[in-house]
Amino acid sequence: MDIQKLRADTPGCLQVTHLNNAGAALIPQAVIDVQRDYMNQEANYGGYETAAKFADELQTTYTRVARLINAQPSEIALVESATVAWGKAFFALDLQPGDRVATAMAEYASNYINYLQAQKTHGIKIEVVPNDKHGQLSLEALEQLLAEDKASEGKIKLISITHVPTNGGLVNPAEEVGKLAKKYGVLYLLDACQSVGQLPVDVQQIGCDMLSATGRKYLRAPRGTGFLYVSERILQDLEPKVLDLTSAKWTAKSAYEMRTDGVRFENYEYNRANRLGLSEAVQYALDLGMENIWQRIQQLGNLLRQRLVELPNVQVYDLGLVKGGIVSWGIEGIPAEFVVEKLREVQINTSLILESGTLLDMQERELPPLVRSSVHYYNTEEEIEKLCGELKKVILLYSRIEHV
Ligand SMILES: Cc1ncc(COP(=O)(O)O)c(C=O)c1O
Repeated sequence: MDIQKLRADTPGCLQVTHLNNAGAALIPQAVIDVQRDYMNQEANYGGYETAAKFADELQTTYTRVARLINAQPSEIALVESATVAWGKAFFALDLQPGDRVATAMAEYASNYINYLQAQKTHGIKIEVVPNDKHGQLSLEALEQLLAEDKASEGKIKLISITHVPTNGGLVNPAEEVGKLAKKYGVLYLLDACQSVGQLPVDVQQIGCDMLSATGRKYLRAPRGTGFLYVSERILQDLEPKVLDLTSAKWTAKSAYEMRTDGVRFENYEYNRANRLGLSEAVQYALDLGMENIWQRIQQLGNLLRQRLVELPNVQVYDLGLVKGGIVSWGIEGIPAEFVVEKLREVQINTSLILESGTLLDMQERELPPLVRSSVHYYNTEEEIEKLCGELKKVILLYSRIEHV
């Protein structure tokens, strides 16, 4: 990878040391250009007219997203966030009282809140699979749960887990979970919000039935973009909770027909400029190659972990056998909020990990708020050194404040 060229393609690299890619990555110039051009056309020629003119380009987004995850374009719904994608899939499952959903310790807050809501409104039961000794979902425990369930009532209807959590470098063994889902005939929904764009995600290899993702994080797409994959194996069986005249056709006084492709999970109105931005960002990732991106991110993530623990009182908390670009850490005795704020003052973007984002994991490990530095391929070794240099100053500054 020509890192200098990639950085020159990214205006934000001139302004900040951006280590908040798990929040939202910096957008490449090509993405900005596509959006700006579309916005200009809209302003000058009208929203509907411009949409008609760009119909082919807008349609190409499905092909590119499908290629990225090795799906069919007809299995993709383009929506405005990972949460929207996930919710559309989850609530289309129509779970019944007593049905059980198996999830994992690294589960993201918004997903878990919806399990709790479904527990209240639909009477489902939540089963949390413990971690193994490496801190990733225990495949043994999952298999035991599935086997016991099958031998009794067969009430586990869904395995729903997060691939890469919001609060650390862990990569859950998504493919092995897929094998178990297939073996026991249970549906599988994967939250790939932090993994798509960071590492190769292949829905055929993983064997998930549904997958949700966002645009603004590792894909480097604009905010307000995301997508849902629903396998053709189950697409026709799912009815989204909210339909409209795009996802369905009103055919008679007492009848409607749903779309037979992923668009059944979409609605009429969406931001076209953003969608073209997503399309461009996906193509950018495809051109670089997901394997190359993943190698570089892993290399930078590991370097950052190694350099951080060399600093006094700094501890890194990432779990798992395979670790990616999200690095979670803290300095003993210094509040994470203080660290994030001080780094922001010198244009180093990091973010705060709070208990409420991944409550099960944070509580089990009794973790205080932590700092999250998430690297992307366009970050550099020099930026890592800069962060560490600034951290030494932050440590010194805090010890002075404490002694006043
Ligand atoms: C693991 C995970 N899932 C889901 C989400 C939600 O994504 P969005 O804000 O695009 O809905 C996030 C956001 O941080 C996340 O980290």
